[in-house]
Amino acid sequence: MGKAIGNKKLKVASLFCGCGGMDLGIQGDFNFLGKHFEELPFEVVYAADNDSYATAIYNSNFEHKCEIKDVRDIVPSEIPDHDILLGGFPCQSFSISAQNPPRLGYKDERGKLFFELVNVLKEKKPRFFIGENVKGLLSANKGKAFPMIIKEFENAGYHIHYKLLNASEFGVPQKRERVFIVGFREFDDYFKFRFPQPTTLNGSKVKLKQVIDSSADLEDKWFFSQRAIDGMLRVREKMNKGRVQDIEQPCNTISSHLAKVSLNGTDPVLMVDGKYRRFTPREAANIQSFPKSFKLDVVSENRQYRAIGNAVPPVLMWHVSNALIKYCSVEKPKDVEDKK
Ligand SMILES: C[S@@+](CC[C@H](N)C(=O)[O-])C[C@H]1O[C@@H](n2cnc3c(N)ncnc32)[C@H](O)[C@@H]1O
Repeated sequence: MGKAIGNKKLKVASLFCGCGGMDLGIQGDFNFLGKHFEELPFEVVYAADNDSYATAIYNSNFEHKCEIKDVRDIVPSEIPDHDILLGGFPCQSFSISAQNPPRLGYKDERGKLFFELVNVLKEKKPRFFIGENVKGLLSANKGKAFPMIIKEFENAGYHIHYKLLNASEFGVPQKRERVFIVGFREFDDYFKFRFPQPTTLNGSKVKLKQVIDSSADLEDKWFFSQRAIDGMLRVREKMNKGRVQDIEQPCNTISSHLAKVSLNGTDPVLMVDGKYRRFTPREAANIQSFPKSFKLDVVSENRQYRAIGNAVPPVLMWHVSNALIKYCSVEKPKDVEDKK
């Protein structure tokens, strides 16, 4: 099945793989909302993340396994040869929503983790890489961080395209905006590549109500207590308006904080029959466009929320990966000797 060209798939190494949103998207062969996202000619040959809970979810969903490892401890030369490097590098320190403590951008330790990607690119010289991060990356450090990051990737030998993509324009029921950075070792690939065009016009965006599980309405545990509601109303009477989601629209961005969602935060919540309800972990996964078959319950619900909230929506990643196939000729297998 799929279109593995000449039986050859491009080999993928995935750093910061989390529970595998990017990895599922690039490999394809999954269903979401009745649509099949066909297998793409990529296979993950190496994956690592230091979160043992996210990796537990990963390892229960993929045939290949990821390592629980701090990427700073990875020796680049020991990573198997690959054609494409993936890295949804940690974003907390670039995020606009993480202003307290103030945004530290690349001056923060976590903000420096993208250097690990750069080190692997310098050593392994894969043909492509795809990086992903929050919108705030574009303006972090008064706009200085992003050009610096791009320069580092260029110095590692890559031509760069980048674009802010909104998941809701690609059939995902969420208005998640993320920067995708795609790097090309060969100018020819860079020249040919185009980011995918939105697949959903305004009227055809997937609505939140399409992925809501109404059976959760019957369980008290998903509803906020009267005490939580009173507390929220004391803080500011109409503050709730922004966060209660319009189920006729894609959902606001869900985050890894969903486990600790409170009515005083900015995380999206539902209003059901006049009562405030949180999303279930499965609904969070639906909002992120994971298929129903994606196993979550190998870790606690709190850990599920965290891993899912951190993920790249597989459907969005599928479209970006498919664009590589569409615009760059992928027949050429990597020639390791070429690089020496
Ligand atoms: C934005 S999430 C990546 C999501 C993932 N690409 C996906 O699509 O599901 C960032 C990931 O980086 C991991 N991480 C943070 N610091 C790390 C480190 N020093 N070494 C390895 N992984 C790290 C986190 O555990 C988290 O899973």
